[in-house]
Amino acid sequence: MNKKTVSFLASGRGSNFTVVAKKIIEGDIKARLGILISDKESAKALEIAGDFGMKSYHVNPRNYPGRQEHEEAMVRLLTDAGTDLIVAAGYMRIMTPYIIGRFRNRIINIHPALLPSFPGVHGQKQAFDYGVKVSGCTVHFIDEGTDTGPIIMQAAVPVLEDDTEDTLSARILREEHRILPESVRLFCEDRLKVSGRKVKII
Ligand code: GAR
Repeated sequence: MNKKTVSFLASGRGSNFTVVAKKIIEGDIKARLGILISDKESAKALEIAGDFGMKSYHVNPRNYPGRQEHEEAMVRLLTDAGTDLIVAAGYMRIMTPYIIGRFRNRIINIHPALLPSFPGVHGQKQAFDYGVKVSGCTVHFIDEGTDTGPIIMQAAVPVLEDDTEDTLSARILREEHRILPESVRLFCEDRLKVSGRKVKII
């Protein structure tokens, strides 16, 4: 089986990016590390990518006339790096049909809630404020909707009586760090089969 090249999009602290990249470096996920792109110059993820010896780029949306032009610049970098899979690891921008079409069923996103509940931003806070007793996280392929793409894995997390938004978020993050690398590993082993809304693990 040919090794796949995995690249990353991240806007912030980069803990999900870190766990996946480490597993690739350590050989637990048999893949090649591609590049990391951030839309935010201050993203800690850019610094971490440098520590891993990866090429990293700040592609500033403000430098482009529109969202598609910004994505065209990202797609050029991703394609030049031979990217097979894009992992959106805390990437906080909505993607347009342009990049989604170019990487159909090859962009994986981690979302900090049990979709289809609480899509969009601040999934943990939305769930906490709503008063649910169980929340969690979802790994899914990105499609044209907001957090609507076919679901690869989910993990449920209980909401405890004395939770705050922060303690709940931390409990969810631990599960994110488990199911995101696991999903990437399955993708890299060609074990995810998408059929309509369903993702079968083969
Ligand atoms: C994670 O909790 C991830 O699920 C969330 O951003 C955080 C990034 O943390 N993503 C979204 O909310 C996407 N809509 P990290 O930078 O430490 O991985």
